Amino acid sequence: MIPEPLARTPSFSRLDDLSAPMASLLIGALESMAANPEIQRVRRVAWDALSPAPGRHLLDAGCGAGEVARELAAAGADVVALDYSAATVAAAADRHDGGTVRYLTGDVTRLDFPDATFDGVRCERVLQHLAEPDRAIAELARVTRPGGRMCLVDTDWESLAVDGLPADLMDAVRAHFANQGQPHHTGMGRTLRRRLVRAGLRDVTAIPVVCYFTHPSQIGFVLPMFNAAVPPEAGLVPESIRDTWFAAIENAGVRDEFLAVLTIWVARGTVGS
Ligand SMILES: C[S@@+](CC[C@H](N)C(=O)[O-])C[C@H]1O[C@@H](n2cnc3c(N)ncnc32)[C@H](O)[C@@H]1O
Repeated sequence: MIPEPLARTPSFSRLDDLSAPMASLLIGALESMAANPEIQRVRRVAWDALSPAPGRHLLDAGCGAGEVARELAAAGADVVALDYSAATVAAAADRHDGGTVRYLTGDVTRLDFPDATFDGVRCERVLQHLAEPDRAIAELARVTRPGGRMCLVDTDWESLAVDGLPADLMDAVRAHFANQGQPHHTGMGRTLRRRLVRAGLRDVTAIPVVCYFTHPSQIGFVLPMFNAAVPPEAGLVPESIRDTWFAAIENAGVRDEFLAVLTIWVARGTVGS
């Protein structure tokens, strides 16, 4: 029997409602993702969008453990790192390393900043978890000054492709993931360009970064349903096939026949005057 706080699918949309162990697992997962070479490749593509020059006032909305906010501050920017989850903001603040970062709790769909507060805003892998992603984009545009830049990063979970695993197992895991209702928008990444255009941004570009893994050990938490260290309580793999699924992944790795591919999109635009 799963204890009550863990019985619901753990989600980044309500981190503070989770048990302390599950919340710290998810915060640790964010840190581990930040160190993953494929996520670092995504972030390199996103980096240029905000020109983090000294004196620039930037917002990282849904900052998680705050790695990017600290990197932007290290480049001289004056950064607000905001997250809905108080536990996450506390974890990010604990990791503070001396740059100009203000850590705040807040909701990206209802930002408590005046219009045109920031020179640039970013929001990475947050919109997929929101019931109202376009409201968040409108808020991000509102708090950005005319001519300022917005950078959105999000996953297209529907792009997941694999080789080297039995198709019936992959189909079962894929269906299970789709049926959980978390994240809210499994195809968010591919919709970012359209959403920025509809929000009235100019010079919109969207770049697909195709992340790929040729051994299960490379995946970490980027594709958590492939990681046997993620506990069953996370609910990512149907219990009835859990052992077979992870044995198949391990075997594919041993045979050097494993492949998994996931597209994460980086979309950028300029806020109009
Ligand atoms: C998958 S994590 C990504 C964190 C970070 N951007 C990164 O790339 O590591 C999603 C984050 O969005 C935060 N979040 C969820 N809903 C939010 C909201 N309405 N406003 C602000 N942050 C939110 C969560 O607490 C979590 O830290």
